[in-house]
Amino acid sequence: MTFVSGQVTVRTPASSANLGPGFDALGLALSMYDDVTAEVIPEGLEIQVEGEGSGGVPLDDGHLVVRAMRAAFDLLGERPAGLRLSCVNAIPHGRGLGSSAAAIVGGILLARALVDAGDTRLDGLAAYQLAADLEGHPDNVAAAMFGGLTIAWNEGAAAEVQRLHTEVDVTVFVPPGAVSTEKARGLLPESVPHRDAALNAGRAALLIAALTSAPERLISATEDRIHQSYRSTAMPDSYKLLQQLRVEGVPTIISGAGPTVLSFARGVADRAPAGWSAHELSVDQIGAHVC
Ligand code: HSE
Repeated sequence: MTFVSGQVTVRTPASSANLGPGFDALGLALSMYDDVTAEVIPEGLEIQVEGEGSGGVPLDDGHLVVRAMRAAFDLLGERPAGLRLSCVNAIPHGRGLGSSAAAIVGGILLARALVDAGDTRLDGLAAYQLAADLEGHPDNVAAAMFGGLTIAWNEGAAAEVQRLHTEVDVTVFVPPGAVSTEKARGLLPESVPHRDAALNAGRAALLIAALTSAPERLISATEDRIHQSYRSTAMPDSYKLLQQLRVEGVPTIISGAGPTVLSFARGVADRAPAGWSAHELSVDQIGAHVC
């Protein structure tokens, strides 16, 4: 196996998972990006990080992009002797906008692009499977890899994905503090009432219609009863903003495991509480790609 010479850059979008009722299944790629540039070098590991995560992420073998690259190189058949990596990150960490999915997907596509004929050795579905295995659940990695609106699920050990097109406008409200996905998942109950599960199933189905052809249904379609309220103690200000916006008729959800709040609307950025940042975004239609 041979490696390509020179630098390769991969751009990967942020993603929002769940979208209200579609827990662990729905994903939406957003127009906020991490760019990672890598090249094979004779020896060693050199990592630079600018933007989000700089000063906070490990600059060694523990760096998530490096871990994903090495997992992909192992599938491709060989690891290079050395790597130089430069990350320019816009996706905030620990906020429910898919920063770990972006690091994993970006790393896998980078490794593939650094190997001669990498595309033929690791196709899109195999790359997605590896990303889902590394992330532990497929909803964010599906959107980060394929762009658009995604429905992700598992058939046994196999990660599956259905991609759909949507052009909905989005505003994300990002609070100053992080909440770990592990902590947010730890707040979920073992079981939920049947009526809540039934409501979520109906709303998730309606949400696909709302996002693809019936936007006037978005307020009903984004209702959730099985995860957001259970997690509210870990993100009380996010839950409060969510409730305020929904009462006003703005379709609003917690993005992924939170604590970012996402509205399917523009013109509401001024509702960001003090110390939060608001970003008006659109749907990324391309997914992760070599620039
Ligand atoms: N579906 C996941 C959750 C997304 O809500 O826990 C976070 O990775």
